[in-house]
Amino acid sequence: MYAFAMENAARAGRVAFETSRLLLRGWGETDRAPFVEMNADAQVMRYFPSALTAEETDALLERIRLHFEQNGFGLWAVELKETNEFAGFMGLAVPSWEAHFTPCVEIVWRLAARFWNRGLATEGASAVLPFAHDNLGLQQVVSFTAVENVASRRVMEKIGMIRDLQGDFDHPRIPKEHPLCRHVLYRSQQVAISSCKRSRVD
Ligand SMILES: CC(C)(COP(=O)(O)OP(=O)(O)OC[C@H]1O[C@@H](n2cnc3c(N)ncnc32)[C@H](O)[C@@H]1OP(=O)(O)O)[C@@H](O)C(=O)NCCC(=O)NCCS
Repeated sequence: MYAFAMENAARAGRVAFETSRLLLRGWGETDRAPFVEMNADAQVMRYFPSALTAEETDALLERIRLHFEQNGFGLWAVELKETNEFAGFMGLAVPSWEAHFTPCVEIVWRLAARFWNRGLATEGASAVLPFAHDNLGLQQVVSFTAVENVASRRVMEKIGMIRDLQGDFDHPRIPKEHPLCRHVLYRSQQVAISSCKRSRVD
């Protein structure tokens, strides 16, 4: 589907992005335990239908691996440079379900709670989003979350994404009666930015 393929993008430890405080890199064996712990934390998973068991995290790791294999990009492990700690994941994903804005590529983030509110998600996402536009050649990237997830919406806003006011939707994988079913949709603005750049060059 996407022409770009990053060679060995998911290879253990291989750094895809480096920011001032973070490495976004391929997954390694030692990431599993802190990843299981993060996904089992009810605070981290507050805006998802449930926290994950260790088996569910293993299944997620396998889906992440397959996604890299199929698309050449995906969800990278996030490492805090200062301490070499695993902090969570961040990256790009193609949703496997249908909604009014699919097919699409979404930008995604999840950090362990002790890393929150230090600007780390914004810092990492600020590297991933331009990569999606400039290296993958995507005209638009979306992001979405449960309406109440203010922290995630703030990250979307801080990296320059704009809420699609007509875009709210019921997440197809969450039962309609569930309080987290309703989601907001944000879109990146690359189309406008690149046409501005082009018109200046031309
Ligand atoms: C969403 C998440 C990745 C944000 O990570 P982070 O590193 O804390 O994000 P940042 O520090 O870059 O920015 C967070 C912003 O949200 C704000 N914020 C956090 N909690 C908030 C709350 N309860 N109400 C209002 N604003 C809040 C912060 O103040 C900050 O905004 P500011 O810089 O304008 O002050 C993190 O909260 C997380 O992993 N949550 C659980 C997983 C999740 O929900 N992922 C998103 C699914 S779509």
